[in-house]
Amino acid sequence: MKILAIETSCDDTGIAILDVKDGKKPVFNVLSNIVSSQQIHQQYGGVFPMMAKREHQKNLVPVLVRALKQSGLLILTNKQLKSQSKTLKKILEKESILFEIIKEFLEKYEKPDVDIIAVTHGPGLEPCLWVGVNFAKALSCVWDIPIVPVNHIEAHILVNFLSTRPGLVDFPAMSLVVSGGHTQLILMKGIGKYKIIGETRDDAAGECFDKSAKILGLEYPGGPAIAKIASQFGRGQTSSKLPRPMINSKDYDFSFSGLKTAILYRVRDEQASPVVQTTGLSEKFVRKMCFEVQQAILDVLIKKTIKAAKDFKVKTIILGGGVSANNELRKQFVEKTKKELSPNSHGRENNGIKVIFPEKHLSTDNALMIAVTGYFNRTKKIAWQKLSANANLRVSKLL
Ligand code: KG4
Ligand code: ZN
Repeated sequence: MKILAIETSCDDTGIAILDVKDGKKPVFNVLSNIVSSQQIHQQYGGVFPMMAKREHQKNLVPVLVRALKQSGLLILTNKQLKSQSKTLKKILEKESILFEIIKEFLEKYEKPDVDIIAVTHGPGLEPCLWVGVNFAKALSCVWDIPIVPVNHIEAHILVNFLSTRPGLVDFPAMSLVVSGGHTQLILMKGIGKYKIIGETRDDAAGECFDKSAKILGLEYPGGPAIAKIASQFGRGQTSSKLPRPMINSKDYDFSFSGLKTAILYRVRDEQASPVVQTTGLSEKFVRKMCFEVQQAILDVLIKKTIKAAKDFKVKTIILGGGVSANNELRKQFVEKTKKELSPNSHGRENNGIKVIFPEKHLSTDNALMIAVTGYFNRTKKIAWQKLSANANLRVSKLL
């Protein structure tokens, strides 16, 4: 079974093609996974949805052509769309840039050998989601291929099943999804069986990285920028502490906006000094702040996830989302889980709780995660007329 997947929920335009040998233990063969990260947002320090929507319209067809070519599925033809052209125009009436490009593409290339189109339909930035959804509808209509709508958060979790050896994921599991828009702890009793047990009450962890980076004058996205500079800070160096919001609260919720404000005040205090007023923030100060903000975020994420893992007696911790690409987060999660959830402390006979995370390039947004999730939801095919975007979509409460 071949799955063509589309991801446009934020500022990454992604197309992937996944070949799956169906069965009890599916065998995944990645034919292509192309991600075009929109550079335009770097200069603004954040994503403007309407700007991102326009970029997706321009990027989708070229990215699809690259993905099909890499998969050996791009075959030239020469045909007129005729009657379908009107329907296509209607589907893409709010995507005029895309309409012109896709029409030319559909007249130039054959329908590829694909069984399912999987597309992110939420959550995410509404205008961005709609471009991907309408693009999927257009392809589905002209090629007559059914659509499987995919939840982006579920995809950040299920991408872990692409490379994980069978039997490694024991349920129940606790998933921590940490991205630019979300921070959620999700109890998982199996694939498709989820319950959100905690989430952020304000900013997401990735958002905190991004906003802190902006305050410190660093580029967007802030997570990788802060991580890189933080790695240059010697652990032995003294540093004053930033707050760890809600770290000891009895629930599983998070809050990161206070942390961002604390950084803002620290930077303002620093800037008030006459020397800094003329020279700007010193590299030493920025290094220290990067180290501190990263550690403050990590401390909260790790402590609350371990508490949830203990309380719900899970067997596996699954990490996903852009922030899970962070090296320190991965390292400290493994260390602390070993220490606090060892066989003895958790009462398991053979081994402790496993921590799994995706390959780094699959932590951040990509369409391969949408393809894998499309596979696990392959029985939920719908006709293109039924598809719509939902910016506030949540993983279904099946527990
Ligand atoms: O999952 P993702 O690619 O997009 C959303 O669904 O939001 O996550 C993007 C977020 C951004 O906030 C970015 O700063 C953060 O993930 N991020 C990181 C790292 N790489 C990306 N945060 C910390 N450390 C990283 N290495
Ligand atoms: Zn994401």
